[in-house]
Amino acid sequence: MADRRPRVWVSQPLFDDIVAQLEAYFEVVPTVEVTAHSSADITARLGGVDGALVTLNESVGAAEIAGAAHLRAIANVGVGYNNLDVEALGAAGILASNTPDVLTETTADLGFALLMAAARRITESERWLRDGQWRQWSFTTMLGADIHGATLGIVGMGRIGQAIARRAHHGFGMKVLYHNRSRLPVALEQDVGAVYTGFEELLARADHLLLVLPYTPHNHHLVDAAALAKMKPTATLVNIARGGLVDELALADALANGRLAAAGLDVYEGEPQVRPELLALRNIVLTPHIGSASLATRRAMVQLAVDNLIAALGHGPDAGHPASAINADAVAAAKAGGVTVRGKKTDLDKR
Ligand code: GLV
Repeated sequence: MADRRPRVWVSQPLFDDIVAQLEAYFEVVPTVEVTAHSSADITARLGGVDGALVTLNESVGAAEIAGAAHLRAIANVGVGYNNLDVEALGAAGILASNTPDVLTETTADLGFALLMAAARRITESERWLRDGQWRQWSFTTMLGADIHGATLGIVGMGRIGQAIARRAHHGFGMKVLYHNRSRLPVALEQDVGAVYTGFEELLARADHLLLVLPYTPHNHHLVDAAALAKMKPTATLVNIARGGLVDELALADALANGRLAAAGLDVYEGEPQVRPELLALRNIVLTPHIGSASLATRRAMVQLAVDNLIAALGHGPDAGHPASAINADAVAAAKAGGVTVRGKKTDLDKR
């Protein structure tokens, strides 16, 4: 047992050339096809390894790590980590990490793309054209809402929110309002061109509202029927964060009944299932959770997660100190004396 080679599980097919770097230190247990792992499957896999590279598809909590005697590190390939019970991992001395920064600009691009597509009715227009309905050019066909000069409300002003604010303010001359758990330093507000407001005021004033905050049980259905009723009927809602932030049935109802003009969603409560009520609407743009999905960025995310895992398991140049650990304090406390420190699962500011 003493000279057993550490084993790591890779939960989904990623980029083989990057994942192969793990082989310098570990025996790698790969997953060769995209797989919907059950909790029992994850539990079994984690039971036999020292570390794992997981994606947002794999939920890892107390149940999944209960029998994982050797597990010391979980590297999440994603910035959002609501799939991890960080508190349970920290208490068990398992170092968790995520992949911030490398996906910021790419995800901001997608947020802006969804905003423009929804407000300017891009995908709706294309479907209409492809369906052969364009028989005569008309002055009033597919009238949408302007982006330039409009008021953008951003909920969640972490890295991605700031990148969106910069695009909006500097690129499109938008007035940018934001709501966040804590206010940004004034210099940063000025740099990104954003003004802090309360949530209710944001709902009422935004011509376009964009959600980019981490999902927690505390903000489940943050945008519900009551919130939607406070928005302008001409407004656009965009969600690039997590599906649970929006009451999808209330959204579908508002879109179907002219109480909201348009929406763009990249994330869903039950993904990969998308509610038929949403699929039936013409005034919504739906993408399959592709916020960070440029080739360069997805590769950078896998590279960071691989580096995190190698470091968390005590190897490589950053041995013991992965660049983007989530729960290092809790792990240190657990190791020092069994004291459990709460993880940062609800941090709204770090995306
Ligand atoms: C994707 O949603 C991520 O959190 O990286």
